[in-house]
Amino acid sequence: MEAKAKCPSLVELMMPEHENPSGNIFGGVLLAKIDIAGAVAARQAHPGRVVTVAMDSVIFKKPVLRGDLLICWADIVKIGKTSITTKIRVEVNRGGEIIPVTEAEATYVAVDAKGVKIPVGTRDDGTVVKPKLSDYCIACEGEAAGKSEDKPKSKKCKCSKKQKKNKKGNKKHKCGCSEKAKNNK
Ligand SMILES: CC(C)(COP(=O)(O)OP(=O)(O)OC[C@H]1O[C@@H](n2cnc3c(N)ncnc32)[C@H](O)[C@@H]1OP(=O)(O)O)[C@@H](O)C(=O)NCCC(=O)NCCS
Repeated sequence: MEAKAKCPSLVELMMPEHENPSGNIFGGVLLAKIDIAGAVAARQAHPGRVVTVAMDSVIFKKPVLRGDLLICWADIVKIGKTSITTKIRVEVNRGGEIIPVTEAEATYVAVDAKGVKIPVGTRDDGTVVKPKLSDYCIACEGEAAGKSEDKPKSKKCKCSKKQKKNKKGNKKHKCGCSEKAKNNK
């Protein structure tokens, strides 16, 4: 299973406080960002609390620098009984150039309020939700660009006032709005 994220799970400007003594962004900071990005993706499969059980195969390919815009893309790659495995790809926007810098896999376990593992997708009330995978964004709630939800809806006046003809003989909605009248024929 590999869905492709529609939107980044995390975007953050790297600040001086993120730097290590040699001037690169500290690896621990990047791990924290990766962890958050994966947890955000895990939300697509589980509506409640998750804890990180493992972070695997972290590869720091290129350094991240102060002023870089860090962009984390996270996808769910596997859903188990209680666990969700995610793949996180990190890139930076440095002066307009996009540079891939890091990759990692992180696994999360769905837990209840006491921290005890529960089946993925289980809500507090015991109901189960289906995972939302491909082309889904937790922030825009699945309204992918270009989908019908984003297209301008045809305007129709909802008022039920009668229409009258103007001087030119065109029908005009009585309420004065310029929207297409509901009862236009
Ligand atoms: C995560 C935790 C709840 C798991 O509890 P547990 O009873 O030991 O659970 P299990 O060993 O049965 O593993 C649970 C799931 O995680 C998976 N898992 C466990 N260890 C794993 C590892 N090293 N890598 C990948 N997946 C792992 C298991 O395969 C299982 O998945 P499945 O149910 O989908 O088949 C428990 O270990 C815990 O609380 N750990 C601390 C979490 C934490 O503090 N994280 C840091 C801050 S968020």
